[in-house]
Amino acid sequence: MNRFLGAVGLAALSTGAVALSGSADAASLSVSVKPFGTMPDGQAVQLYRLENSNGMEVDVITYGGAIQSIKAPDKDGRVADVALGFDNLDGYLHTDTYFGALIGRYGNRIGHAGFTLEGKAYKLPANDAANTLHGGPQGFDKHVWKAAEVPGGLELTLVSKDGDEGFPGTLNVKVVYTVTDKNELKIDYTATTDKPTVVNLTNHSYFNLAGAGEGDVLQHQVMLNADRFTPVDSGLIPTGELKPVKGTPFDFTKATAIGARIDQKDEQLNFGKGYDHNWVLNKGNGGMTKAAEVYEPNSGRVLEVLTTEPGLQFYTGNFLDGSIHGKGGKTYGRRGGFCMETQHYPDSPNKPSFPSTELKPGQTYHTTTVYRFSAR
Ligand code: GAL
Repeated sequence: MNRFLGAVGLAALSTGAVALSGSADAASLSVSVKPFGTMPDGQAVQLYRLENSNGMEVDVITYGGAIQSIKAPDKDGRVADVALGFDNLDGYLHTDTYFGALIGRYGNRIGHAGFTLEGKAYKLPANDAANTLHGGPQGFDKHVWKAAEVPGGLELTLVSKDGDEGFPGTLNVKVVYTVTDKNELKIDYTATTDKPTVVNLTNHSYFNLAGAGEGDVLQHQVMLNADRFTPVDSGLIPTGELKPVKGTPFDFTKATAIGARIDQKDEQLNFGKGYDHNWVLNKGNGGMTKAAEVYEPNSGRVLEVLTTEPGLQFYTGNFLDGSIHGKGGKTYGRRGGFCMETQHYPDSPNKPSFPSTELKPGQTYHTTTVYRFSAR
């Protein structure tokens, strides 16, 4: 059964759009592509639109493999774009907010911009005070990924050379984005290496379930399936402790408004300027488990996050300051979006007690995260 909706996808895109043939029918997914801009070095950047039969649409650009837009219905069926981003490539080239981007080789921070692996010390470029953030200044978010349509979605690949941003080993990375008919955006990450290295891949989408640019997210109610979190020092590097959330503003085991306690006097909130921490997910028997559920009361939109990862960086857009004008010229103010970055814990390469982020030749790194949208 060929459920390819190429014509629909084409109609929705501006001039220059090309519908791809042979897209997956498993999820009744339509995939189309159009140009999104040109890099300063002349490389072309494309925008791929993944659209399911319920009208959920996800746009991904090949620059940074970034999710540029997510259109999801509210409780009355009204569709809004719930992901922060830019209308053009320039916006992405001139900000360091990582809107929607794929992050690598190492999501979040590595303390003192270095680590030792198998007795050898590696020095990384520091781009966040003395630390390395999100893989360094030229992380995977700054690369143009190679794109190919695959059954059920879009495959993005990147070859990160031995020594790229200081990390050892040639890393072959593959990320597959899929949109299912259950309104799930599934992200599947795989990587292999030819030398021992460390890897921690994630996606840095900022969500606002009321619609991107529609004010702050403080009314959103968040549940995190985590009894502990990893407290940090003033540079946002974990101290190594796994601290119970009970009795702290970090307890989201029951759905609680983001804004309910965010400005309380608390050293950890002070360090993060709000929530900007890694929660230790309750994994039970491991595998794919529910990490989070977020509910926005006005629209009724719900976002569930499921993942194979042991951690979740819940970041409440504390560094957004209203100076950024995103899609449709809308302003993204402080706490105008929240991120649910599924990951291994920050600074794991320097924290032997944390789950390991090492990858050896012959092994395959493989993680999966699902962002499921619904409304009630
Ligand atoms: C988050 C990180 C924040 C901030 C943000 C990007 O993942 O935890 O501290 O760097 O990315 O602005």
